[in-house]
Amino acid sequence: MENTRRGVHIAFEGIDGSGLTTHSRRLVDELSNMGYKSEYFKEPTKGPIGDLIRSFLRGDDRVRHDLLALLFAADRLWNYHASTKPIALLKEQGYIVVSDRYKYSSAAYQGAFTDLEWVWIINSRVPHADIIVYLDVPVDVALRRIELRSKNGVAREHYEKAELLEKIRRNYEVVLRKAEEEGVVVIKISGVDSGGERSIDEVAREIKEKIVDFITSRR
Ligand code: ADP
Ligand code: TYD
Repeated sequence: MENTRRGVHIAFEGIDGSGLTTHSRRLVDELSNMGYKSEYFKEPTKGPIGDLIRSFLRGDDRVRHDLLALLFAADRLWNYHASTKPIALLKEQGYIVVSDRYKYSSAAYQGAFTDLEWVWIINSRVPHADIIVYLDVPVDVALRRIELRSKNGVAREHYEKAELLEKIRRNYEVVLRKAEEEGVVVIKISGVDSGGERSIDEVAREIKEKIVDFITSRR
């Protein structure tokens, strides 16, 4: 098994429906096939705080963004340090850890509706990722995908509305700039081109190439 000298933490970010789960899972499979030790993590987690978050997100519209920010930060801290398979330990063991959302989601989502600086601070107990893969997809494309998913029986969640996602998408620009200023490498992958939506395979190929370059340059 190939080993990275030190672990690498990759965070996938983007609005709902941008393809985070599809592409982060696929990258883990591809890295594993190449012989890298790689693990997939999703936020909100399947732990006790993640369950609580999901119940809020599926509830009525009177959601408190500050309360959600605290819960997301706690869920993340638990996942990083205190779960049965903590990210901190895997990183020490040289794993490539792939997060399907990380603290930049809190900054972009809750930070769009509360105080971004405060959200940034309450998340400072977990370290930055090494690299962010940002899937840049227009809101109308993302909503069309979410619509298809909800027809397949998946209930819509709190943030899955055009005006909220537009605001979050704009806020991602601020968040990615802040992360870059603090030393995180950011790669932006466009979900569309002049011909419209790009295929899953094409986007996945671009992600894999860029990530393999990044990992190789760090070894
Ligand atoms: P997210 O985790 O960002 O909400 P998902 O990966 O769960 O997104 O869902 C994205 C949906 O969009 C999937 O049903 C997927 O098949 C579809 N899709 C269509 N084109 C693409 C693409 N180029 N990249 C990713 N997903 C795509
Ligand atoms: P997710 O399960 O990724 O949504 P889906 O797979 O259905 O697209 O995330 C659930 C929702 O939580 C999503 O709207 C993004 C939001 N979220 C935040 O608002 N803040 C956070 O810190 C995280 C991790 C997610």
